Amino acid sequence: MHPAPEEPISETREEPLADIPGSRPLSRRAVLCQAVTAVGLTAAQAILSPLRADESSVPTDPTRVPGTPPTLYGHRSLFEKSERVVESWWGSFTPLQDLEGVVTPASLHFERHHNGVPLIDPSHHRLLVHGLVDRPLILSMDDLKRFPSVSRLVFIECSGNSGPEWRAPTGQTAQQTHGLTSTSEWTGVRLATVLKEVGVKPEATWMLAEGSDAAVMTRSLPVADIVEEGLLCYAQNGEVLRPEQGYPLRLVIPGWEGNTCIKWLRRLKLGTAPFMTREETSRYTDLMPDGSARQFTMVMEAKSVITTPSGGQKVRPGFIEVRGLAWSGRGSVMKAEVSTDGGRSWEEAQLQEPVLPKCHTRFRFSWRWDGEETILQSRCIDETGYVQSARTALLAVRGMNSDYHNNAIQSWKISREGHVTNVQV
Ligand code: CO
Repeated sequence: MHPAPEEPISETREEPLADIPGSRPLSRRAVLCQAVTAVGLTAAQAILSPLRADESSVPTDPTRVPGTPPTLYGHRSLFEKSERVVESWWGSFTPLQDLEGVVTPASLHFERHHNGVPLIDPSHHRLLVHGLVDRPLILSMDDLKRFPSVSRLVFIECSGNSGPEWRAPTGQTAQQTHGLTSTSEWTGVRLATVLKEVGVKPEATWMLAEGSDAAVMTRSLPVADIVEEGLLCYAQNGEVLRPEQGYPLRLVIPGWEGNTCIKWLRRLKLGTAPFMTREETSRYTDLMPDGSARQFTMVMEAKSVITTPSGGQKVRPGFIEVRGLAWSGRGSVMKAEVSTDGGRSWEEAQLQEPVLPKCHTRFRFSWRWDGEETILQSRCIDETGYVQSARTALLAVRGMNSDYHNNAIQSWKISREGHVTNVQV
């Protein structure tokens, strides 16, 4: 656990617990404790506060000790330790194997920064929209929040997700192999709304998006492809963006590589051609076997991963609910299939509703493991009919020069002892 922040504790228990209907009669000691609470931190609170307690201070019977008062900002149980894996200075990975459903808690959403997380005062933050427009505008956060708002659940995936898996099974866990993708409910104003406000000139076909981080991250985006779905977001999962997710303003392009979802967004410039920035020339291109490079490969193709059981876990023979996530940058997941024999046969998994376009989709598959060594795989089939392909098929086209856009089928080997490891077949 990280060190807990100091939080004010007084003034939170104004009503005696005994007044709450259905509550247990309080012992004299508990009442005394409450009396002391009114003036300051009691010994009991010091022990019981979820922010301060350790496992040795857990009461054997929680019904015999008054609980802790409400807090200003919620925290999880001290027994829960799931965390992002931080990879040096540049990013962190979502613990997909620990999560349920499809929404990634904002505190566990993956990160990819190019020069750290900037500290930005939202009252000073501005978005400049200029270039080939009729009415260039400088918008404050208050201005942006006055526009009609919209919320949408979408995944974001770094195009470098699973990149190290290109050459060898590298990550030990689903977090390490696939943790550069997360799903949030994003809230903001439609890009179309703001572009309508400035009046985009007909000849403007490309838009530069620029962040205000120390890398001044910039990408060029073809206007026609993003105007309908692009969002200028100021909120995530119901609260304001986290600093590491672009606070106070982030561009979200549903289904496109995470790098196009410019964080700390400060500028949009309309032009007639791509701006050929560093991040779309020396980076984020895909070198093909013949030496040519694919550029502006924006869409994240259909992909999936089994999160239970997955690398680093141990299973027992008998019933296992195989669980995982499937997604596609081209729309909705039509089908997720699971193989329990290393890809020789495939069976359809159950999809958890709602199945939303460009959003993580949870799948489940009931399986009885006989205790023999085997390999588990999943594959996503999206609404276009595209079938996620095996690693060998991907490499046959893309060769060994690439890192980005590895959407190959993931294989987890289960040993006779029940240990799950990352393998390639
Ligand atoms: Co790309």
